[in-house]
Amino acid sequence: MGLFDRRKPLEEAADPSGERLAPTLSWPHLVALGVGAIVGTGILTLIGVGADRAGPAVLLSFAIAGAICACAALAYAEMATMMPAAGSAYSYSYTVLGEIIAWVVGWSLILEYSLVVSTVAVGWSGYAAPLLHASTGFPMALMQGPELGGIVNLPAIFIIAVVAGLLIVGTRESATLNAILVLVKIATLTLFVAVALPYFDTANLHPFMPFGFAKGVSPDGVERGVMAAAAIIFFAFYGFDAISTAAEETKKPERDLPIGIIGSMLACTLIYVLVAAAAVGALPFTRFADSPEPLALILREIGQGKVATVVAAAAVIALPTVLLAFLFGQSRIFLVMARDGFLPKPLAHLSKRGAPVRITLITAAFVSVIAGFVPLDKIAALANSGTLVAFIAVSVCMLVMRRRAPDARRPFRTPAATLVGAGAIIGCLYLFLSLPTQTQVWFFLWNGFGLVVYFLYGRARSLIGRGLQGR
Ligand code: ALA
Repeated sequence: MGLFDRRKPLEEAADPSGERLAPTLSWPHLVALGVGAIVGTGILTLIGVGADRAGPAVLLSFAIAGAICACAALAYAEMATMMPAAGSAYSYSYTVLGEIIAWVVGWSLILEYSLVVSTVAVGWSGYAAPLLHASTGFPMALMQGPELGGIVNLPAIFIIAVVAGLLIVGTRESATLNAILVLVKIATLTLFVAVALPYFDTANLHPFMPFGFAKGVSPDGVERGVMAAAAIIFFAFYGFDAISTAAEETKKPERDLPIGIIGSMLACTLIYVLVAAAAVGALPFTRFADSPEPLALILREIGQGKVATVVAAAAVIALPTVLLAFLFGQSRIFLVMARDGFLPKPLAHLSKRGAPVRITLITAAFVSVIAGFVPLDKIAALANSGTLVAFIAVSVCMLVMRRRAPDARRPFRTPAATLVGAGAIIGCLYLFLSLPTQTQVWFFLWNGFGLVVYFLYGRARSLIGRGLQGR
């Protein structure tokens, strides 16, 4: 069999047999899982990094990243309802584009899901550390990574351990808790907008685009511009893709998945535009650009210290929903890859309560080390690179399937599919090129390593390759 010929049959991806996950979730769970996964460190913290890269034009970066994600979300909804399997972009690619592409996508998803967990844990710590320091005197050096002058980021490691514990207890309990925390998160952002918007001053928007549009290197060596900011801000928008990893556990995928994916994406975009406008309008961007807790800082600077504490405390309470969704998604991707023979079977073992305990523990350990020592913007950029590749793959899958199987059952059809698919592919490619050059190098090293593992281990173990599945 040639490199691109090993494909999983559509029926198999649409209805995976073997160690199946029980269907316990419906669309309100999915919207909550979506919003829970989307609203997080992107809007709460990376908005500062984005402002540093683009100035007030970070508003434009939000619009660009949002539009590209909306196109990708539509492609996801179509593919997720055609093949409601837990492996998300990996599973679609295996069926449509073949094993080796699926491997690269799976490897990229592992990068995305792991590093999102690390990023958000560091973002959580950015809001939690000042509160903890003020109330207990716990040393800041143990709450920041080396790049910020600290030793290790212990709160980030702590929160990962808590969330991993929750997931090991079981999905449904976690989903209910998630729904409550999502409400806290929405209320917090609404509070920020309500308090900061009255301080809107158009003078803060001038000059609007101090670093130009396309990525360019500033005198301090940092790559800036509206697109460089969009490539970072992109982080704020994804998470709807984590819904598709819960597809197998969804009661009525054809109804629940499109509502969950598109509904949560639209709701978040609306909130972001308001928060971003309130933030850049309230204060000159240079004053909050490198803060680990920009929204709280903005509120303090406009004389709303008490609200700042409320927002910081609420962020601390609610941010773990993002961790929950991505750690959950990560274990599902691993599970499906193991089911296909690509990872050792014992890793995919489910506990009596249906939780993949071993994978969750291994992932948690790995992401804790990164969260403890690496700075936020670097981890986020690398997470974005993996996600962009997965989004491109899903959009390509949608377009290929429209040609290859025009009459296949599609419970959700993307409107203007060619335009939307092309928009997602070209947009994601442009965002990828706008990432810091160093990030791109790391991404290729990671996938190069992945391909070595594929040829030394995965290719020979593949169940499809050995004729044990899908024939
Ligand atoms: N969109 C998620 C966040 O902003 C990953 O934290």
